Amino acid sequence: MKKIIISEPYLPELDDVVSALSDIWVSKWLTNDGPYLKGFEHQLQEYLGADYLSVQNNGHSSLEVGLRALDVKGEVITTPYSFVSTSLAIRNIGAQVVYADITEGGVNIDPYSVEKMITDRTSAIVAVHTYGIPCDIPALTEISKKYGIKLIFDGAHSFGVRLDNMPISSFGDMTMYSFHATKLFHCIEGGALIVQDSALLDRVRKIRNFGISGPDNIDGEGTNAKLNEILAAIGLLNLSSIDSEIQRRAELSNLYSQCLAGIDEISCLVVPDNVIWNYSYFPVFFDLGSLSMTTLDIEVALKDLGILARRYFSTSLNTIDIFRDCKGATQCENSETLAQCVLCLPIHGGMTDDDVLLVCNGMKKILEN
Ligand SMILES: Cc1ncc(COP(=O)(O)O)c(C=O)c1O
Repeated sequence: MKKIIISEPYLPELDDVVSALSDIWVSKWLTNDGPYLKGFEHQLQEYLGADYLSVQNNGHSSLEVGLRALDVKGEVITTPYSFVSTSLAIRNIGAQVVYADITEGGVNIDPYSVEKMITDRTSAIVAVHTYGIPCDIPALTEISKKYGIKLIFDGAHSFGVRLDNMPISSFGDMTMYSFHATKLFHCIEGGALIVQDSALLDRVRKIRNFGISGPDNIDGEGTNAKLNEILAAIGLLNLSSIDSEIQRRAELSNLYSQCLAGIDEISCLVVPDNVIWNYSYFPVFFDLGSLSMTTLDIEVALKDLGILARRYFSTSLNTIDIFRDCKGATQCENSETLAQCVLCLPIHGGMTDDDVLLVCNGMKKILEN
């Protein structure tokens, strides 16, 4: 039976990797701001239209480095509808996680809910552009200005997205991207921060390297979040495939939307007209009231057909043990509902049109039974 998997990383030509490796072997410059990292950062700046960008060893540590660089402390308002990394980063830097629900019928944090949770201890909002769909940036920006608090975007899903034709990372104080192997753009493990000025970029770069600011100078606390030269080389090589990967995913996405259009129990993501999306995921949302099965049942039934879908995110973070006592955790019904009705279908550039038809026909069969 053919297996169709949720995501498959694209890889550079092996010859190109070997050539980069030979280069690194000869120079013996393996990490610590080497030429491949510098080249990768430069190319990313160009691609993303970002003047102030720093690359780290993964998205999660990037978020922690960013929060430290902005001196975030006290209470931080965030969404429970995310990967656990978002809330953990806030807690790991010593701040308190406060939850605000997502909008009803949407996937992103609700600015109205955010404003209700603000106290004199609030220092920041960490919002997620879930599935690459931008948050309500105008409303969140207004709140951050009104209360003088930082606005940070976990943009792990939003590589290359544009809002009103502006790069998504040009908003707020800071945006993080994840370059994990399962993400749209990847360098196996990696992440980036985009900030809005050079002083903050200097702080970020210092913190990612133990707080070291010069040969004999340790200037404040830091961590080790450096990306090595081998992964930077993979990132540089992968950057040349990203446009064709997005293009292919757009075709697959359109085909999914057409094939699933007639199924009453399923709705798809709505992409606003002013957004250039990146097709990073293809989530579908089930009307569970009209079905006698759960999304877990559907996931398992698809697996029996060789189709690996994923309930992403299967758990609203406010309901898990380590976060259930956080402020706001009892008021996140929309997030809890969404986590129960979502399933991300396979999407990656290696899929054929027939693969999409197979997934959709499999889905129809399962729902008819
Ligand atoms: C929303 C979100 N935030 C943070 C992360 C963490 O990124 P990374 O896996 O690169 O550390 C991920 C990805 O796994 C994610 O999906």
